[in-house]
This record gives sequence, C-alpha cells and structure tokens, in this order.
Amino acid sequence: MKKQLAALAACLAWTLGAQAADIKLVVNADQPGPVIHRNIYGQFAEHLGTGIYEGMWVGPDSKIPNVRGWRKDVIGALKDLKVPLVRWPGGCFADEYHWREGIGPRAKRPIKVNSNWGGVPENNAVGTHEFFDLVEQLGAEAYVNGNMGTGSPQEMAEWLEYMTAEGNSSLAQARRKNGRDKPFRVHYFALGNETWGCGGNMRPEYYADMYKHWATFLKTPENNRPKFIASGGNDQDTTWEDVLSKSVKYNFDAIAHHAYTFPSGKWEGKGSAVGFPEDEWISMLSQVSKIDNTLAKTTVVLDKNDPKKKLEIYFDEWGSWYDPEPGSNPGFLVQRNTLRDALLAALHFNVFHAHADRVKMSNVAQMVNVLQAMIQTSKDKLVLTPTYHAFALYTPFQDATSLPATIENNPVYKVGATEMPGLSATAARGKDGKLYIGLVNSNATQSAELTLQVGASAPKAVKGKLLTAGAMDAQNELGKSAQVVPVAYEAQAADGKLTLKLPAKSIVVVAVEG
Ligand code: AHR
Repeated sequence: MKKQLAALAACLAWTLGAQAADIKLVVNADQPGPVIHRNIYGQFAEHLGTGIYEGMWVGPDSKIPNVRGWRKDVIGALKDLKVPLVRWPGGCFADEYHWREGIGPRAKRPIKVNSNWGGVPENNAVGTHEFFDLVEQLGAEAYVNGNMGTGSPQEMAEWLEYMTAEGNSSLAQARRKNGRDKPFRVHYFALGNETWGCGGNMRPEYYADMYKHWATFLKTPENNRPKFIASGGNDQDTTWEDVLSKSVKYNFDAIAHHAYTFPSGKWEGKGSAVGFPEDEWISMLSQVSKIDNTLAKTTVVLDKNDPKKKLEIYFDEWGSWYDPEPGSNPGFLVQRNTLRDALLAALHFNVFHAHADRVKMSNVAQMVNVLQAMIQTSKDKLVLTPTYHAFALYTPFQDATSLPATIENNPVYKVGATEMPGLSATAARGKDGKLYIGLVNSNATQSAELTLQVGASAPKAVKGKLLTAGAMDAQNELGKSAQVVPVAYEAQAADGKLTLKLPAKSIVVVAVEG
C-alpha cells in the first residue's frame, strides 16, 4: 500500500510539475558546435559465439543467400543502417589472434581453440581478406585491432605491411597471391585491447612503455596511414587516459575507452534482459550519466595534457550486458534485446553528441547475436532488434553539426532511491541542411509534453519517427510479430506554440520544418 501511495505521489508530482512549469526545449541553431563524427555510430564484430560465424558469415557454399560467404540479408539490413565503421577481430579475441592463420586457402587454415569465448573451435575462415570484403560490401571504414597480448612488434608491423604495402615486398606479393592486388584501406589500427584485463593485465605505465616501443615499428605508406589507437581505461577510471596522454608521442591518435552497463551495476549477477521490474529499468538508464561524467573527467585530463586537442576518444565498446540467456552457451554472450536497450542506446548517443569535440568514434558491443546486438539470427532467419531501430532513427546525426539544446524544467524521474532527468535531448544540423532533434523520455509510466523553441521562435512543424512499445521489455522475436517498430510522428504549431507529446518510455527523432 505504502509503495502504491508513493507511486501515486510521484505521478502527481510529475503531472503537477509539468503543469506548474512548462517543459521547454530550447535549441540555439546559430551556435554550431563540433561535428558529430559518423563513426560515433560504429559497430564491433568479434570472433565470439555466433557474432561472425553463422550470424554474418555462412561461407560461399551455404544455401543461405550470400555474397562471397557474407549473408545477403544481414548485409542488406546493416547497409540500411548506414554502418560507418566496423571494429574487428576483437575484443579479448584480438590479443590471441595471429593474422597469418587467417590468410591463404581456407581449407588449409589452422583450427584453433577460441579460449576466451566458450572454448569452441575457431577455423579462421574469416581472416583479413574476408573482413575487408565485409567492410567494402557495407561501404564502411575498417578498424583493425592488433594483438599485443601474445603477438610481437614484428608480427604486428608485418600485418600492417601485408595490408597496406604498394610495392613489391614479399608481403605485398603474398597479399596479391591471396587475391588482393591493391592495398586494403586501414582507417584505424589499435595496439591491444583492454590491456588492463584480458589483453595482459598491465599497469598503465607498463602499457605506455610497450606502446611507445611497438608503435615505433608500425609503418605504412603515408596515404594509407591509419589512426593509431591506444587501449585506455574502463568504466569510470581515467588514469589510463592521463598516463598515456602524458607520455606517448609517436603514432598516437586516440585512446579507446570501454564501459558496459549492467542492471545491478556489478559484473557478478548482472540482472535479467527481460521480465525485470521498473527499478531495473531506471538502474540501467540512469547509469548513462556515469558515462557523461567519465567523458567530462576525460576532457579535463586531455585538455591539460593535450591542449591542442590532437587526441581523440573512442568509446570502442559499450552497451548493455545481462546474465546469459538461459540454455545458451554462457561464453557466447547471448541476450535478449528490448525497448530498454533501445532507450539505453539513444541516451548514449545524446551523451556522445554532447562530447563530440573529443569523442570521434564509438562501437556498440556487438553487431550481430552478441550482447546488445542490432540483429539476431537463427539459421536463415533474422530479426531487427529494438537497438537496431534506435540506431536507424539516429542516422541523420551522422556527420551532423551539433547545436546547443537545453531542456527547461526537466522533470525528475524517480523509482525508489534512484533518480535521473526524465527527458534527454540532442540537436544538430544534418548534412542535408535540416535541423534534427532527438528526444528520449526515460519515464517508464508517464508521458511528457514539451514545447520547442528554436532561437526566439516556435517552428511550424516537426516530422519524424517514434519508437515505443507497451511493455518495458517489449522485444522483437524470431517467428513472432515485432513489438518494437518505429512509427511516423509529427506535430504542428498551434497558437504560436509547437508542442511535442512524448509517450512514456519513448524515443522521438524529428526534422524541424519552418
Ligand atoms: O564484447 C565482449 C568483450 O567485452 C570483449 O571481448 C572485451 O574487450 C570486453 O571485456
């Protein structure tokens, strides 16, 4: 009873609050901020579970329609999403990956054990050439993560030479013999992954020295030089960013940071992907503010050590992580994907946009079948997850110019002891010249109304898409009708006011007209 009364009081406070002080979104269209790099919408594909094998790669002889082994349906859906960049081959897998085992005739490639992920056989069918075929089919940029854990500076330098050499070196000739005449275009190259953990359990100072040593030998033609990425910190720890930005100078363009979100906030006993109470809804969504704080702290550190702003921050692993789907191989990181994940993604985007001066890439973990996936497959079927639709709604923000957007009288959303701002907003001028607004109503039970002001005036109308559903854990399941799909959304000005109605637990992305 007490709980019900408290909920009623919270609901009244929300409604009265909204009546007492109107919620207003003010966008300053004449104060352009940094460009929101399209690679903020990057993806991550690791040799993990069915993330690559089965989920994307079926091999050229499969009955599932494919182009040179890559599933046509999956590639089509990812192209629709305008995937700008793919990171490969890991993750933890990267630090045990030896590139020579993934080139040459597939039947002759060695079969290894994927010791990080379920101990299953890894037949190396997807290697360097197959990965570049994937990104070229997608029209995406390539981010290759090098092995610093069990490799050597020589092995790493030779991989780069194999991929990028133009001349007649033995490695360039070997690449040609394996079917690729022109060099591959390597846009980004990382030295190790999570070197504080699965990548070698190092101290930041030790890794910084290793980085300086190994990076010395990484050479490519000038027109094919990737941006070089150091493995940075985890969660809220910015020590790695501090140590690296103070000491590394050569072949150093960016620092990778990771932060996953668990309902319980802990690695052990993370919480369930479905069938959760509202306090686990808010515990997930409210944690995005930690990422905002970490980025703010990182900015302070980098502005001190790198005042010319040469270094970029890449959030190259993020997303929801739940207890594994019952009955699945726990090493395959299979989890359901619900409306909560879609909102979690949209809140991340809003935060990344707000830090677009330093954050020039992010990679959701992961692209297909693993963790917070865009796509889930089973045999020849696929389903687009709610997270896919959140990414789809936000595509106009790729390479858009960010604009200041402030919510006045933002209502507080509170469940038990956890509270967060009820609404989150972002605004940008798209490459097509239109003004776009992204809005998230995190409140699971209460709708909200806000008026929109651009500069000093109210626009005439907005048009776009809305994503919501009846239940917090609504999902799109194979063989069932999808519960979370975007629908058309529009609002017109009346009496000189443009009011947007946001249903509970929803995402709205609109273009402003007039
Ligand atoms: O994305 C799954 C794993 O999470 C990655 O391999 C690793 O880098 C991180 O711990």
